[in-house]
This record gives sequence, structure tokens and C-alpha cells, in this order.
Amino acid sequence: LHHVIIDTDPGQDDAFAILLALASPELNVLGLTTVAGNMGLDQTTDNARRIVELAGRADVAVHAGCARPLLRGPRPVPEIHGDTGIDGWDWAPARRGPEQGHAVDFLIETVRTHAAKVCLIALGPQTNVAMALRMAPDIADNIERIVFMGGGFFEGGNMTPAAEYNVLVDPEAARIVLRSGVPITAVPLDCTHATPAPVNWSSSLAAHGSEVMRACAGMMAFFERYGNAKHGTASRPLHDAVAVSALLWPELFTGRLCPVDVECAGELTSGMTVVDWLRQTGKPDNCLWLRGCSNPDEVYRRMEERLAKLGSGG
Ligand code: BDR
Ligand code: CA
Repeated sequence: LHHVIIDTDPGQDDAFAILLALASPELNVLGLTTVAGNMGLDQTTDNARRIVELAGRADVAVHAGCARPLLRGPRPVPEIHGDTGIDGWDWAPARRGPEQGHAVDFLIETVRTHAAKVCLIALGPQTNVAMALRMAPDIADNIERIVFMGGGFFEGGNMTPAAEYNVLVDPEAARIVLRSGVPITAVPLDCTHATPAPVNWSSSLAAHGSEVMRACAGMMAFFERYGNAKHGTASRPLHDAVAVSALLWPELFTGRLCPVDVECAGELTSGMTVVDWLRQTGKPDNCLWLRGCSNPDEVYRRMEERLAKLGSGG
């Protein structure tokens, strides 16, 4: 059992990741923290509330966090995720807003006081997580692991030739996290691109008929269209949901423990994750860098099976 906090900027793939986590008995979701990323903070926070309510889990705490990266300006991408960030479904308005209290305070307090170690799942720019580690370095000892979706080395980037979105938006935060000494699993583009959803997965999801599955099907169809238009590919990886899958089913993924850092200053390479795969720097291994998936269809089969069990109304 992992006790998790999900730090997120929904995003359709964040939505799948959150729903998968809520549907998984191996994960005890202690709360969600939101960050500016795919959309501005107010929108990602509202989206997070809508997602937990869709799952029938209105009880899950959502705390709003940082409205911009540590040093840089926000960088929303409505061209990828649509005007709401979770386009593709006609969402009911959230019944209520987020909890009182800043996400970074919630992270610090929860990690400090929880009886068992807490696993942080970071699915957006890592601003909140870095802030928490800077404000309260003592929490590092009570973090089981940080699993983050971000970066890319063998595949390059998806926003610039060198940089993946989450790391590009807040490279300083990613660097703080990677240098924190906490055990880290990175789920970069190298791994997510090796884990594409089945072709026309949206149709298969829609066939289940439940409200959650119809919402998933709509979001997936929206996501597939963007992939088709930009890359000419018939299927797309649900990046953030792959990160939760890697925590749930590590046997389906391959990677290597090695030294990883972030380029923050490069003229052409700012936001690049630099992976010392062949261990040439002599620096300590700080990150399990996932690079492959042995059976993508099985990942999405298991995901579909779990999502289909989620109800709504709570
Ligand atoms: C990451 O960027 C965001 O757009 C997605 O939600 C995901 O977290 C993929 O590069
Ligand atoms: Ca995300």
C-alpha cells in the first residue's frame, strides 16, 4: 500500500492518472495538490475538483498551490488540452471549491504527520514539490519516493528538441527535486512514448456506458485527435496515467538507476533532463529512469478494467 499525494495540473492525461489512482486499492490517496501548468491555477484546481467528484470521491481534499513557476512565467497550452484543459467531456460544475490552506503547507503537514511514509506523484511542473522541499527539508526523510512524469532523453523533448513540457515550464523546480536526496522514479517521454494507448481506445472506453467511462472516452477522443493532427500517429500515450501505472505495475516497465540532472541555462537546451545512462560523471545515482514498457496493451487493459469500476455520486 502506498500513501500518495498527487500534485497535478489537469490536463486530460492527469485526469486519467487521478481516476486510475482513485480506482486502485494499492493506493491511499491523501489528497490532491494543484499547480499552474497546462492551464492557470484556478482552472487546474477547478478541474481537479471536477475529477474527484466525477469519481464519486468528493471527500478527497484538493489544495491549490503555486500560480507560477519558481523563476519563470506560466506557460499554459490550450492548443494541446483545449480551453478548459480537460476538453472532450461536458463537465458538471464542481460542487465546491478547494480546501483552505496552500498546497505547499498541506504537502509539508501531511508528510510530516502521516504515520507511514508518503509517496508524491508529480504530474505537472514540480513547483509545489520543490517549494515544500525548500521550506521543510526535514520532510525528505518521510517521503517514500517521488514519482514524476517529466523529462526525456533518448526521445528528446515534446516542446523543444531538448525539453519535455513539465520540466521546461519549471526546470529549477525539477532540479531541486532531483537533487533532494529523496528516491525518485522518473517517467519521461522515453517511457511514455513506449506506452501508447491502443488505437481508438476511446471507442472501447465508450462501450462501457458509465458516466466515468463516457467522460474518459470523450477526453481520450480529444487527446487522440491532437496526436493525429500533430504527429500523424494513430494512438497517443496518456503520459501522466503511465506514471501512475508504473507505480502500480512496476513489472511492466524497464529502466535503470543512474545520475540525472536538469539543464537550466542552455540557450537551446533549457529544461533538458540530462541522463548519465552510462554513468560517466561519477555522480551518485539519484533517479530510476524508466525507458521501456514490456506490454503497453496490458497497461491499458488493466487501466480500463479499473476505471470501469469507478462510480459517481459521492
Ligand atoms: C506532460 O505535459 C502535460 O501537458 C501533460 O499533462 C503531461 O503531464 C507531458 O509532457
Ligand atoms: Ca500533467
